[in-house]
Amino acid sequence: MTESFSSRPIFMGVVTVLVSFVLLSLLSGSLGRPLYPLPSKLNKDKRPLQTFRPYNIAHRGSNGELPEETRAIEEGADFIETDILASKDGFLICFHDVTLDDTTDVADHKEFRDRKRTYEVQGANVTGLFVGRFPIITFEEFIAIALDANRVVGIYPEIKNPVFINQHVKWPNGKMFEDIFVETLLRYGYKGSYMSKDWLKQPVFIQSFAPLSLVYVSNLTDSPKILLIDDITIPTQDTNQSYWEITSNIYLEYIKEIVVGIGPWKDTIVPVRDNYLTTPTELVAKAHAHDLQVHPYTYRNENKFLHLDFHQDPYAEYDYWLNTIGVDGLFTDFTGSLHKYQEWTSPKDDRSASALLHRISSLLSAYGRQ
Ligand SMILES: *[C@@H]1O[C@H](CO)[C@@H](O)[C@H](O)[C@H]1NC(C)=O
Ligand SMILES: *[C@@H]1O[C@H](CO)[C@@H](O)[C@H](O)[C@H]1NC(C)=O
Ligand SMILES: *[C@@H]1O[C@H](CO)[C@@H](O)[C@H](O)[C@H]1NC(C)=O
Repeated sequence: MTESFSSRPIFMGVVTVLVSFVLLSLLSGSLGRPLYPLPSKLNKDKRPLQTFRPYNIAHRGSNGELPEETRAIEEGADFIETDILASKDGFLICFHDVTLDDTTDVADHKEFRDRKRTYEVQGANVTGLFVGRFPIITFEEFIAIALDANRVVGIYPEIKNPVFINQHVKWPNGKMFEDIFVETLLRYGYKGSYMSKDWLKQPVFIQSFAPLSLVYVSNLTDSPKILLIDDITIPTQDTNQSYWEITSNIYLEYIKEIVVGIGPWKDTIVPVRDNYLTTPTELVAKAHAHDLQVHPYTYRNENKFLHLDFHQDPYAEYDYWLNTIGVDGLFTDFTGSLHKYQEWTSPKDDRSASALLHRISSLLSAYGRQ
């Protein structure tokens, strides 16, 4: 997900997508590298998804350290998150930002300096470490990474810039980006409503900033969906609705038929002044009153992102959001830190009924194989 900070001009979003198209056209034909092997392991006997505490959602992998997904799984992510875009020839790929500079400290690493490039995009020079210099993985490879994990790891793909993609990419038979997106999920067995047996086997949340995409997708799959909510100054990209409209009680009452939760930028839940938190808004209480989960974004360890109330302590920030605000999931760039915090403060209870049932069924199936 790419949030728009209020300081960042809106047109950057458009530039981002245009750049990705430029790069992807350059790249197409260069996917001759071996693909990540498609899933081989069965889901049997895997440690289940934890569902007793808020979800640890790895924002684009363990992004604070390295922009990749496998590390996040080792560090304890419940869900791995990614943006999904389409290449000009219709393949769904995982795509992050135009450059890695915006979201990582990669610019501080001398060893990457020679990878800096400048491309002229829409009359402006954009310099940085282009994602194209790192391998882009396909949506299917991303799914394979999750399915191959040695425990159940959910996926949290974003239908990214659907209006733009549907304008610029054409699929056979008039299919839309959303159709291809859902077909891919179904092909790999992602189905079922939130907490259903199918969902627990292969958990997924479908996220988008575009309400119409989610409405459309709700006709195709009952997998749970999350409506992302941008800064208060930014209207929705397809329905041009204001922040106030889509966070009103009337709207939440409507959208809860489509989505299981919302994903707001955290600074809109607790507004910030002079880098200090101010009084929290009622958004979380309102959402919970409509049985909607709240998964805010994005939690980051770096000093420059931690508001001064937290005294440069990311654990203090997690404590505040989990125990004072009471959110249901957190998009984090530092999955390892959130995991440690949750293990210290809310460790797994092995005596819980579901853990016990899982152990018994593992034992039985191990016995059956002999
Ligand atoms: C971008 O950089 C190139 C090379 O330095 C320069 O020739 C060009 O005029 C620049 N374009 C813009 C829009 O600044
Ligand atoms: C959902 O599907 C029905 C039946 O195919 C169709 O009539 C309706 O327009 C669809 N709704 C949306 C929002 O796409
Ligand atoms: C979006 O809504 C704003 C405020 O109502 C309006 O000024 C603007 O023209 C609308 N934009 C589009 C593309 O409809």
